[in-house]
Amino acid sequence: MTLSRSAEPKKTNLLTDTDTLSPEPESATDIRRISAEETKSREIRDTAADARPVERIGEHSQPLLSVRSLQKHFPVRSALGRRTGNVQAVNDVSFDIYPGETFGLVGESGCGKSTTGRAVMNLIEPTGGEVWYEGRDLTKLKGAQLKEMRSNIQMVFQDPYTSLDPRRRIGYAIEEPLHIHRRGTKSERTERAMSLLERVGFRPDQYYRYPHEFSGGQRQRIGIAKALALEPKLLICDEPVSALDVSIQSQVINLLEEIQQERGLSYLFVAHDLSVVRHIADRVGVMYLGGLVEQAPTDELFGNPLHPYTQSLLSAVPIPNPRVKKDRVVLGGEVPSPLNPPSGCTFHTRCPFAMDVCRSVVPERVQAAPGHEVQCHLYAN
Ligand SMILES: Nc1ncnc2c1ncn2[C@@H]1O[C@H](COP(=O)(O)OP(=O)(O)O)[C@@H](O)[C@H]1O
Ligand code: SF4
Ligand SMILES: [Mg+2]
Repeated sequence: MTLSRSAEPKKTNLLTDTDTLSPEPESATDIRRISAEETKSREIRDTAADARPVERIGEHSQPLLSVRSLQKHFPVRSALGRRTGNVQAVNDVSFDIYPGETFGLVGESGCGKSTTGRAVMNLIEPTGGEVWYEGRDLTKLKGAQLKEMRSNIQMVFQDPYTSLDPRRRIGYAIEEPLHIHRRGTKSERTERAMSLLERVGFRPDQYYRYPHEFSGGQRQRIGIAKALALEPKLLICDEPVSALDVSIQSQVINLLEEIQQERGLSYLFVAHDLSVVRHIADRVGVMYLGGLVEQAPTDELFGNPLHPYTQSLLSAVPIPNPRVKKDRVVLGGEVPSPLNPPSGCTFHTRCPFAMDVCRSVVPERVQAAPGHEVQCHLYAN
């Protein structure tokens, strides 16, 4: 697993740096050739979700964050207020984030990525599961304790246009978390806001400007400065560049990487753009209909995707090299509703390899290679 990085962060233009983003890909035909027999010949062990994370992936350090069996269901009510069902937005999601690493979360729109990020931060109360941060389960904390612990985890939002109050000077926006957490005196807070502004590429006197005076990329940099105000250890970045022009995306990604290097931050990086995730993440988790169906170190996941859904996702990524031909794995069927997810493996209605057992039995999570977990009957012992 690649937890350590080179001393210098990679400066990358996401459009043109194909060396970094798109090493020689496997064709989708190759990908589909991974048959059940071939995969069964690998050493596959059962992976208990509650096993000590450090033992599961053979890592030396303890995780900063351990998410276990996280669940978030949203009640659906009739016009008269009667509960008529649940949107099962997140179901039994487990993963770890280590100090200084970036864990990427990918999947189609609506699969539960943002809900996972919000539930981890306790911005929305999880329906079930645990979120361990430095030895304490955040889901059990309340009031002042929760507020204090939460200051270690901050969020960078997708939309820089709506995440800043248009009536507030940007300096105040950056200072606000310090104010809420009663950190420092007024002048210390202002000084810190100015220094953070400088860190993300502005002049200190721009403290007095309003959000409308800045472009989208600039506002996202202000959002990053705000997220750093409380000196968190973990940033949850929810599609932080998807609302930006491609030319600006690289600047923001580079800034996030530099800041991670300087401060040893960990990132939970949510995105639907696989190229961005491939570039920035050390490990990647793939979500489908509220579940985490596969997770692995980034190179392993992109080089050897095991779950049929991951294989189809990766086959849809465009390759910048016109000489490389790639067959796209087109999935059949509609994306099912999280209000009424399919029984057994939730992917069985669209999976080209579905077997009888897939329709009724939820697959176990198994470890197919060190740190490579997959939830699919094709890889069962
Ligand atoms: N507050 C909410 N109330 C009801 N359903 C919600 C709410 N927030 C999200 N959902 C539903 O939960 C599912 C997952 O949403 P989300 O986490 O936003 O997905 P993603 O970020 O992967 O696009 C979707 O079906 C979405 O409609
Ligand atoms: S468990 Fe069955 S339906 Fe689900 S992904 Fe694996 S083969 Fe396909
Ligand atoms: Mg989202």
